[in-house]
Parts: sequence; C-alpha cells; structure tokens
Amino acid sequence: MAEKNRTVKIGVVGLGGRGRGLIGTLAQMDDVVISAVCDIVDECIDEAIGRIREYKDYPVKRFNNYHDLLAEKDIEGVVIATSWNEHIEIAIASMEAGKYAAFEVGGANSIEECWDLVKTYEKTKVPCMMLENCCYGQYELAILNMIRHGLFGEIIHCAGGYHHDLRTLADALARNKQRSFHHLHRNAELYPTHEIGPISKYLNINRGNRFLTLTSTASKSRGLGIRAEEVFGKDNPYTQNYALGDIVTTVIKCAGGETITLTHDTSLPRPYSRGNAVHGTKGIWMEINKSVYFEDLSPNPHEWEPIENYLDKYNHPIWKEFLEDGVTGGHGGMDYLVLRAFIESIQNETITPIDVYESASWMAITCLSEQSISMGSMPVAFPDFTNGKWLTQRPVLEGKYSLDK
Ligand SMILES: NC(=O)c1ccc[n+]([C@@H]2O[C@H](COP(=O)([O-])OP(=O)(O)OC[C@H]3O[C@@H](n4cnc5c(N)ncnc54)[C@H](O)[C@@H]3O)[C@@H](O)[C@H]2O)c1
Repeated sequence: MAEKNRTVKIGVVGLGGRGRGLIGTLAQMDDVVISAVCDIVDECIDEAIGRIREYKDYPVKRFNNYHDLLAEKDIEGVVIATSWNEHIEIAIASMEAGKYAAFEVGGANSIEECWDLVKTYEKTKVPCMMLENCCYGQYELAILNMIRHGLFGEIIHCAGGYHHDLRTLADALARNKQRSFHHLHRNAELYPTHEIGPISKYLNINRGNRFLTLTSTASKSRGLGIRAEEVFGKDNPYTQNYALGDIVTTVIKCAGGETITLTHDTSLPRPYSRGNAVHGTKGIWMEINKSVYFEDLSPNPHEWEPIENYLDKYNHPIWKEFLEDGVTGGHGGMDYLVLRAFIESIQNETITPIDVYESASWMAITCLSEQSISMGSMPVAFPDFTNGKWLTQRPVLEGKYSLDK
C-alpha cells in the first residue's frame, strides 16, 4: 500500500566494495530494513552483515543464490551491485518476482539483453532503475535546473567523460575482478553512464528526443600494459594484449540535432573528472574549470566566470533541501540521493526517476561503440527501445526526486 515513510524491506545482491558501500548508506535509513543479502562468496556476506550491524540489529537472511533471495515474499525491492555481467539477468528475475529492481551502473554486453530488460518491464510493469548516482550530483542537477530556466538557450552540444585513472585494474586481474576482463578483452566505451545519464536528462532523451547514431574511435593501448609489466614482470601474458584503447572517443547524434561526445579515459595518469560540458545558443558550462559563460549575463564578454556565482539561485531544489538537512552518504551525497529516489518510489508505488528505457539506452552505448570500433569507426544505428513512444508524452515521475520536471 502506498504510504509515505512506511518501512520497506530490501534485498541486496552483490556484496563487493560497492555493494557494501550501498549497504552502509541504506542501513542508516530508518524506513529501510535490509532483510536479506546475497553473494556467491561467504566472506563478502559476513562483511556486509558486519556493515549493517554498525547501525541496526534487525534479522538479516543470507543467501548464495539470488533466486532464493527473490523467493522472500516480504522483500519489495532489490539492489543489485554485482559485476556488470549479471546486472540485467538479476534485474529481469527481480521484476519477474514482482520486486522493484535497482541495478548498479555499467555497460551492456549485447543489444539483445537490453531488449530483454525492456520487454520484461513491459510484461511485468514492475519498475526497474539504473542507480546512476551522477544524475543526482550537485553540479549536474544545478546545470539541469539552469537549462530548464533557459540560461543556455537552445542546447547544441554536450560532452562528458569517465576520466578516472584505473590502471590498478591490471593488478585486479590476478584477483579475478570481472571488470578487469572487460578492459583486457573489449575495445569499447565501457563505462558511459556517469556522463550520459545527466546529459540524457539535459536533452530529454526518450521524451521528445532520442539517440539516433553513434561512432566510436579508440586510440592505441598502452597504459594497462605498462602497469601489468610493472606488477607482473616483463613476460606476463597481459603486457601486450589489452584490447581497450587508452582513450575511446564516441560521438552520438540525437534526433533533435544535438551532438554528444563521450570520452572513456581510464588507462593513463590523470586526476578524476566527469568532463561535463554543455554548449547552447546563449552560453556554455565546462566542469573541468567549474566555469560558465552566458552572453546576456556574464560581466565581461568572452570571459569565464565561476559556476559558484549561480549556485545560490540555481542549485536544484533537491540539493537546496539536502544542503539544509546536512549532506550524507558516499560520493559527495549522490549515493544517498539515488537510493532515496529508489526507496521513495517503492513507498509511493510510483515509477522510478530513471526508467527501463533510459537504462537500456545508456547501457547500449557500450556494445554499439564496440561494434563501431570493430568496423573502423563506422556509424551504427541506435535501437529505439521505446518503440516510437519517445514521440509521445511518456509518464514522468512527479515529486521530489523527479529528473524530468
Ligand atoms: N555508481 C558508482 O559510483 C559505482 C562505484 C563503484 C562501483 N560501481 C558498480 O558497482 C558494481 C560492483 O562493483 P564492485 O567494485 O563492488 O565489484 P566487485 O566485482 O568487487 O563485486 C561484485 C560482487 O558481486 C558478487 N557476485 C557476482 N556474481 C554474483 C551472483 N550471481 N550472485 C550474487 N553475487 C554475485 C561477487 O562475488 C562480488 O562480491 C559494478 O557494476 C560497478 O560498476 C558503481
């Protein structure tokens, strides 16, 4: 029954570093009971329950098989933080079991699995959401608010990147970390969603606009091989054989005429950035120098000014309230907000602020870019996961966590 603030029982599947981090945030919420956890590794379950015990002493069931967790009748929502290969399979099983599904970020292995996700939602009508925390980042939300207030005029181009020095993924191969195998064997935009999530909301993707085509180009691969040689020695099998180009550049063309560039950049030395940028007929934003320029508002022509000059007025209402209440949770508060959005959708029995069509479109970038690179940067067509419904007034979430109002 829909009831604000009622207690919801949640199951968490996948209890690696990320799963345990999410559990730490969920366990602090007084209207959430984590009634079951699941991992194929017992030590991960022990550590996850230990994390819950830092805050709560309610009973927690433990499972090695997620189907057993899904058979628990009183669980209403499932948080999935396994490695990329299992997200869709577990989300589908969760929807089929009648439980709201929220899965961690990552790219898809095939277009077919994205369709499977969409078709399961259409059959079951059980909401399913990617936990794209960066949609709730302070700057990303402030820029969304400024776009909606018309400061940028008509949007022409957006950019974003996953600029994160992850060369230690070469070491993690020895621990069988699944993500490392994607870097070893796949040449693609492997991790598009931190940047495409917010950009997709800026451009009303799947609500009046959609991704049409994509091209991807990869540089040569050096960074991970050099790291592997440092860690494993000169004659290790991985030094020369990384498939992933150090820099993968993807260009997406939208039905509305906008272009988007995405950069996957995880194999070379550099500080972290999501490289968010927006360019419209009236102004520009660049995350990299935290600056904006608005032709009608900025004091000096052709000169950047700090984004901070606009935050008092244009911080998104979600962030205004969050700052007043006291920011909490990992990644500067984004993890807390995206989890609250999921929990409150369950409590209110509504759709989720990120829906299955968006989740499928964002994940599909990975396998489409893989195809484009393998064919010498040929353009590839984007599937329309909405089957034409992007042209109509699709329902949007009302209320506090909406990213579409
Ligand atoms: N949103 C963010 O900011 C953010 C940050 C870090 C990681 N992530 C994402 O979180 C996910 C997990 O990342 P991680 O670093 O914790 O990965 P990890 O590989 O360390 O952990 C994955 C866990 O899932 C378990 N697992 C695998 N298959 C399973 C199955 N069938 N049933 C139950 N458990 C299973 C593994 O045993 C492991 O403990 C990834 O999708 C990653 O991209 C997101």
